[in-house]
Amino acid sequence: MKQAKKYHIGFSREDLGQTPPVAALLCGDPDRTRRIALHFPGVVPGTVLSEKRGLFSGVCSLENGMPLLCATSGMGASSTSIVVNELVQVGIRIIIRVGTTGSIQDHIRAGSVLITKAALCRQGASLDIAPVEYPAAADPFVTLAMVRSARDLGVLAHLGITASVDTFFEGQERTLTSANPRLLRLLQGVTEEYRGLNIANYEMECGTLLKMAGVYGFAAGCVCAVIDDRSTGEEIDLSVKSRAENDAIRVALGALEVMDLGEVLAHCRGC
Ligand code: URA
Repeated sequence: MKQAKKYHIGFSREDLGQTPPVAALLCGDPDRTRRIALHFPGVVPGTVLSEKRGLFSGVCSLENGMPLLCATSGMGASSTSIVVNELVQVGIRIIIRVGTTGSIQDHIRAGSVLITKAALCRQGASLDIAPVEYPAAADPFVTLAMVRSARDLGVLAHLGITASVDTFFEGQERTLTSANPRLLRLLQGVTEEYRGLNIANYEMECGTLLKMAGVYGFAAGCVCAVIDDRSTGEEIDLSVKSRAENDAIRVALGALEVMDLGEVLAHCRGC
């Protein structure tokens, strides 16, 4: 019997072909996803699966023949939770988020990349999946593969703890570039507090992804292009964005190319 297409992502397991991918790159921005699947150097371009709700998905393959799904999470944890749930239902077992981020540490500058080793997850959607205390831990094999990939590519990469929050403006303590200059008392000074806790960066999807990985039993990691130095201001640095994004994508692809998939899958319950 033909399988129904998943409601939100717009494709089914059958649409993934004879050798369906077990690994996916997950981007917030559909343009980044499309670029990886259809136009990125070192990727054998594939086909479009769906663009439902603007959530572009496509299949492609690496030069070593490994099939790869490229999918879009949309912005934030709620959308991410829906897409990730359906990706697991169509057979995906390894997910690397390739995103963008703002650094809150002086030594992590815009233009570099940040690989997450764990996340402080301040995200409402995650509370529907696991208790607040549940660890948002990145898969060690996927993470180490990305650290090594960055080293081999000569990409300046930092490994750190990420703060995943629900809002770009209030939750990341932006007031100068926000329509809302009034921050709740509990968010006033939060960036300085996180800096003191050795948290490296802000973003909006990783914590929930990592908690889902723990609960569902798949492997997940996260690499982000640093496009904002929150130690010096609030504005995105557009002059470094495209190079840093390319570096983050190359780090993720390089990691997948050398990854021992059997080893990764053997260590996650439920795969
Ligand atoms: N994404 C975020 O969530 N924050 C930033 O500062 C940059 C990208």
